[in-house]
Amino acid sequence: MLVILFAGSLADEPSIHAHMQLHLDTTVRARDAVVRGDFDAARSELKALAEHAPLKRVPPDARKYVGAMQAAAKSGAKAKTLEAVGASVAEVGLQCGGCHAALGRGPVFADAPEPPAGDDVAAHMARHAWASARMWEGLVQPADDRWDGGALQLLEEPWTKARDPDVDPAVAVFAERIHTAGVDALMKSSDTERAGLYGALIATCARCHRAVDDGAAD
Ligand code: HEC
Ligand code: HEC
Repeated sequence: MLVILFAGSLADEPSIHAHMQLHLDTTVRARDAVVRGDFDAARSELKALAEHAPLKRVPPDARKYVGAMQAAAKSGAKAKTLEAVGASVAEVGLQCGGCHAALGRGPVFADAPEPPAGDDVAAHMARHAWASARMWEGLVQPADDRWDGGALQLLEEPWTKARDPDVDPAVAVFAERIHTAGVDALMKSSDTERAGLYGALIATCARCHRAVDDGAAD
């Protein structure tokens, strides 16, 4: 099937599997850089994606996704805010999923591992990271169950005063937003809306990490 869709492409180009794996690795690094609040790293991953030579013999139906993916990566590489770079990462993911859906081909992510357990901040964060990874897979595959499974993890009691009386209110506001994003995510059924939400979500992770680093939580 692949040989038919990408006829001729395999002889003179790296295999599509390697190409796609590179896409995935680059975009996952970009996503995680946004989450950490590492603006420069996120932009440089997107720059690499924008400059990466596309496969040459993409079927005509799928070319627009390549163009849109590269445009999103290019704009993210020049973005001036974490929100804008987050939106670009999400837009890239939307185009990955768009092409996979249009061609009826693409990744089928392996069964998701169990979300990490535990009551401390590190475990809470590991669940946030798990959620953001599953929602990303939901966009890229694309797959509703991945998206919803990730979103559901965001619904747990947020890290606010109710959970921890010592929490800094300047930080708790971001925790509330993550929780609300989980609720909203479950109501979004179109991939375009999901991507919009996802960009804002990872930027919110970043805002809190920056606030914590700047000492708001001391
Ligand atoms: C031009 C269309 C197109 C775009 C854009 C695209 N893909 Fe793919 N992708 C495919 C096709 C077709 C396959 C299936 C290859 C196969 O079945 O052998 C695939 C397969 C994959 C796979 C599975 C690879 C494997 O080893 O089987 C991954 C992972 C993947 N894509 C990730 C991505 C990510 C991440 C992006 C966006 C950054 C992306 N793709 C953008 C067409 C596309
Ligand atoms: C309310 C503030 C807040 C929000 C919102 C937040 N984080 Fe965190 N995050 C923290 C703090 C505080 C730490 C440091 C935890 C530690 O070192 O024990 C952290 C650390 C992390 C770590 C590193 C954990 C480790 O063991 O080093 C990851 C990964 C992470 N967060 C993911 C996320 C993701 C993904 C989101 C968004 C879905 C998110 N966080 C949203 C406050 C937040």
